[in-house]
Amino acid sequence: MKIRVVFSMILNNLYDINSLTIRQIDEISKMARDFQLNKIESTVKGKNAVIYFDENSTRTRFSFEVACRNLGIRVFNFNKETSSIQKKESFIDTVRTLEALGMDVLIIRTGDERLFNEILNNKDLKIKFINAGCSTKSHPTQALTDYYTLKRHFSSLNGKTISIVGDILHSRVARSDIEIFRKFDMNINLVAPVYFQDINIKNVNWFDNLYEGLKDACAVVALRVQNERIDTTIPLIHYVKNYRLDINNFPQNALLLHPGPQNRDIEVTDELLKSKNANTILEQVTNGVYVRMAILQKMLSDNEIVQK
Ligand code: CP
Repeated sequence: MKIRVVFSMILNNLYDINSLTIRQIDEISKMARDFQLNKIESTVKGKNAVIYFDENSTRTRFSFEVACRNLGIRVFNFNKETSSIQKKESFIDTVRTLEALGMDVLIIRTGDERLFNEILNNKDLKIKFINAGCSTKSHPTQALTDYYTLKRHFSSLNGKTISIVGDILHSRVARSDIEIFRKFDMNINLVAPVYFQDINIKNVNWFDNLYEGLKDACAVVALRVQNERIDTTIPLIHYVKNYRLDINNFPQNALLLHPGPQNRDIEVTDELLKSKNANTILEQVTNGVYVRMAILQKMLSDNEIVQK
């Protein structure tokens, strides 16, 4: 087998999309593709990753675990409920303890964004960290996965229209997706009733009419109604009647993306989820493994990759 060593840009912590350059995003995508096509090998075997999730997850947690195992990284799951955090140990002392135990990267999902600030403010920490979902604010690895998935279907995204439909107010995926789609000059339509809109999101096209908001879309991101983050009563019957995506209102040739988990027949009908437009949703899940492999490889490597 022919082996070639190739230099590659190192990635530091992954906090949000806005702190990545277009070049870094494209490098992550290219490396993800190389892993998917089995063209390159891990150089980070034997590193240690700790997964710290204090919110529920299926896709993100498992895709990080699969990505780590594919790269030969050892995975340790942190359980807050059985940890010494219950004995009032602080979060940052916990992180320092994990670092002293030899952890190379902390993969963290939390509803408490102050934890990210604590990591960012403790600049002497050597352990790297990856944001795997921060409250309603950000979910950069999902956005990188969504970008990668679109790039598998469209050679250029410049000027193409993407519509994001649903509970934008409570969605960290929407916010990170908007950040990445803006970087690549996509035309962004946000479609939501007023109770799911966020007027702080600017430089996008807001619609409260589903049909107008879907016009010209090459891809549509459907969002779940995030009941766990909603403390008021929302008019679900109104939402389903006016915003649910179905076979009749969905643009015929558009791709349907969904970060998951799906609540069938609430944001999207079961029938549309079974159509070919929705094949992209499981592609996103598969692609998420390769994108996370690329992020981990770039973060933990000593500046080289091995090409097969
Ligand atoms: N997309 C996503 O974050 O899904 P999970 O909540 O299942 O990880």
